[in-house]
Amino acid sequence: MSEKAKITVNDKTYEFPLTVGSENETAIDISALRAQSGLITLDTGFKNTGSTKSAITFLDGEKGILRYRGYPIEQLAKESDFLEVAYLLINGELPTADQMDSFSDNITNHTLIHEDMKRFYEAFPSNAHPMGILSSMLSSMSTFYPESQNPDRTDKDVELTIHRLIAKIPTLAALSYKSSKGQPYIYPDNSLSYVENFLYMMFAVPSEDYVLDPVVVDALNKLLILHADHEQNCSTSTVRIVGSSKANLYSSIAAGVSALWGPLHGGANQAVIVMLERMIREGGDMQKWIDKAKDKNDPFRLMGFGHRVYKNFDPRATIIKKSCDDVLEKLGVDDPALEMAKELEAIALKDEYFIERGLYPNVDFYSGIIYRAIGIPTEMFTVLFAIGRLPGWIAQWKEMVSNNEPIGRPRQVYIGAKERNYTSFDKR
Ligand code: CMC
Repeated sequence: MSEKAKITVNDKTYEFPLTVGSENETAIDISALRAQSGLITLDTGFKNTGSTKSAITFLDGEKGILRYRGYPIEQLAKESDFLEVAYLLINGELPTADQMDSFSDNITNHTLIHEDMKRFYEAFPSNAHPMGILSSMLSSMSTFYPESQNPDRTDKDVELTIHRLIAKIPTLAALSYKSSKGQPYIYPDNSLSYVENFLYMMFAVPSEDYVLDPVVVDALNKLLILHADHEQNCSTSTVRIVGSSKANLYSSIAAGVSALWGPLHGGANQAVIVMLERMIREGGDMQKWIDKAKDKNDPFRLMGFGHRVYKNFDPRATIIKKSCDDVLEKLGVDDPALEMAKELEAIALKDEYFIERGLYPNVDFYSGIIYRAIGIPTEMFTVLFAIGRLPGWIAQWKEMVSNNEPIGRPRQVYIGAKERNYTSFDKR
């Protein structure tokens, strides 16, 4: 495409090149705007701003398309395995059998955490939220592996940090759960797969056999794959921005975990269940809640509905809805919150307000239901999202570093007081 975009301000016209992506997504490259005109753009929430050119994930919100490195999410969820998807995201290509063996071995070798780290768990209050614990523990890893703080790290150092992060995050997460229950920690069993090992560390108790259910393992594997990347969302942009200051990778990822925690982002899966429980407690009148969600004077929103980019359907939700049905049927779960979820979904999908605005159940509507059915405590839901999103954060951080991107630093339009003189207390 050779055309240029023109911006005319006060009779002066500035020209900017267009950039076209591999799926014909077109952007106006305004990087020279300020130098040429002294102007900046204003785009609160970055709804129209591309912050980078990325080769990792393609997403078409109108058509409900999501692909990692070109591979449709439907194929990966059906045929792949979370660690293989992690390799794909981080390295750009699917691994050969040898590459996969070596990657899995490396991850398996690093599942244990430093024994001294366990002392942190004793210091957290017993009711500490596991996302707060996870973010702190990930940040603390930079102190246990201080070489990660060197901005001139070699590729080998980076690879080791990546292996440590992927290997240890399930251990850190399971320990936070065990610690909140006051139960003894279960050490990783490296004969198990990544997902199996996480379930084992979460649910096994000493002196009892723990039997893994393949339906649960499969559902969790799918959920992790579906959450593994989602281009420049809030937590990923956070990881890239923090990393752009050359902060170490552990701290950048810890910042991503904090961003993910919010109920408008990854925290939505917990918020869905909290909302359903509240609806039951308050009598189960669905219409009342739908009306509240539509009322502009009421801050209440239907959690698990709507998405910044998906305005027709969330392809992840389509895949996980099927898994959700399988898990509920296999486990024979009888749970009023799950019944309530189905009723809410049916009413909202027929309501004009939701149809007009393209508000459909998103991946977090169903993921919360699956987690609950397989016995994951509500406060751990977003931790599961973080385990899934970790490879995406790492891939995006690596890409930012290899593109040699400048430090992230937006501008602003100042609307505060003009210059004024300080006055002492007696004159105010
Ligand atoms: N319930 C009721 N109304 C809603 C909802 C909702 N869940 N979501 C959006 N709206 C309305 C909103 O009030 C606005 O109406 P109007 O045009 O009349 O002012 C319109 O829909 C557009 O909403 P928006 O806030 O401009 O959309 P956004 O792109 O800024 O926000 C969102 C996207 C996900 C933050 C929002 O839909 C939301 O708060 N959803 C509930 C939280 C949730 O489930 N988040 C998880 C997202 S999926 C996981 C992830 O990828 O992070």
